[in-house]
Amino acid sequence: SKTPMRVAVTGAAGQIGYALLFRIANGDLLGKDQPVHLNLLDLPQALPAVKGVVMELDDCAFPLLAGVTITDQPKEAFKDVDIAILVGARPRSKGMERADLLTANAEIFTVQGKALNESAKRSVKVLVVGNPANTNAYIAMKSAPDLPASAFSAMLRLDHNRALSMLAAKAKVPVAEIEKLAVWGNHSPTMYPDHRYATVGGKKLSELIGDEAWIKDTFIPDVAKRGAAIIEARGQSSAASAANAAIDHVRDWVLGSDGKWVSMGIPSDGSYGVPEGVMFGVPVICSGGSYTRVEGLSFDAFSQEKVKVTLDELNGEREAIAHLLA
Ligand code: NAI
Repeated sequence: SKTPMRVAVTGAAGQIGYALLFRIANGDLLGKDQPVHLNLLDLPQALPAVKGVVMELDDCAFPLLAGVTITDQPKEAFKDVDIAILVGARPRSKGMERADLLTANAEIFTVQGKALNESAKRSVKVLVVGNPANTNAYIAMKSAPDLPASAFSAMLRLDHNRALSMLAAKAKVPVAEIEKLAVWGNHSPTMYPDHRYATVGGKKLSELIGDEAWIKDTFIPDVAKRGAAIIEARGQSSAASAANAAIDHVRDWVLGSDGKWVSMGIPSDGSYGVPEGVMFGVPVICSGGSYTRVEGLSFDAFSQEKVKVTLDELNGEREAIAHLLA
C-alpha cells in the first residue's frame, strides 16, 4: 500500500475544520487508495476541542487515516507536509478596523509562511482559506523564500462553485456540464464571476441563458453577497461549502481537473494586467500535480472594469501590510 501523505490543517477546532477533516480522512482529498496523516494546528486554548474532534475521527475508524498529530506549534504542524490547508485566521471582532484585521492576520501568516519554509516538504502545496485569503496567501508566500511561489494559493473555489450552481439553475442544465467558467481577483465581494466563455456541450452558456441583464443585475451581485446571505440564514458563516471548496481546490491541483477550467488564487505572472506576484483569482487547468493559467482571454469594457476594481482592492490590502514584509 502507498506511503501516507501528510496533510496539515490549521484552525482545526473551527467550523470549517469540523467539516473538512472527516472528508480528508475519508479519502475525498487525495483519493480512495491514498492513506493520510493529519497534522492539526490550532491555538493553545483550542487544543482540548481539537482533541475532541480527533476522538470523533477515531470513532469513524477511517481505513485511510494513518495517524494524527495535534499541536499549537506551526513548525511541528508543517513538518514534512505534502499539503497545508491554512484555515485558521483572526476573525474581525467588534470595532476592529480593516487595517487592524489585515495586520493581525499578516502576523499569523508571516509566522506560518516561515514555518512552512523551514519544515514543509519542498514539494508542498499550500491553500489559504482564512480571510483575507489572497493577502494572507501572499504574505505566507513572501515569508517562504526557499519554496517556489507556485506552492502558494488562495481559495476562490467557493465563489466558483457558487457561480456554477447559480448558472446551472438559471440555464436549467446539470452543473457538471458547464465548462470554462472563470472567477477573477480577490476572494471578497469584489471578485468577478465571468460567464462570458462558459459553454454547455459546446454551446455558449450566455446564449442558453439569453439574459445579460440577469447576469449583471442578479448573478454577479448574488455570487458576491452569497456569504452574507448564508450568515443571515444560518447565523454562522459558510462552513461545509467552504470545506467542500477546499477539497475541490486541492484535489484538482494534486490529481488534475480533467481538462476543465477551475478558479484558483495564484501569484500573477504579469498577464492580464495584474502585476507579477499579486495573489489573483484566475482560471487554470490542473494536470500532473500543477496548474496552468488559461491564457489569451480578452476583456470588454465591463469585464475590464470588474477586474480593475478587484485588483485595486488587492493592491490596497498589499499596501496596508507592506511594512510588515520589509
Ligand atoms: P472558526 O472561528 O470557526 O475557526 C477558526 C479556528 O482557527 C479556531 O479554532 C481558532 O482557534 C483557529 N485559529 C485562529 N488563529 C489561529 C492561528 N494563528 N493558528 C492556528 N489556528 C488559529 O472559523 P471558520 O468558520 O472555520 O472560518 C475560518 C476562516 O475561513 C475565516 O477566516 C473565514 O473568514 C474563512 N473563510 C474563507 C472562505 C473562502 O472562500 N476563502 C469561505 C469561508 C470562510
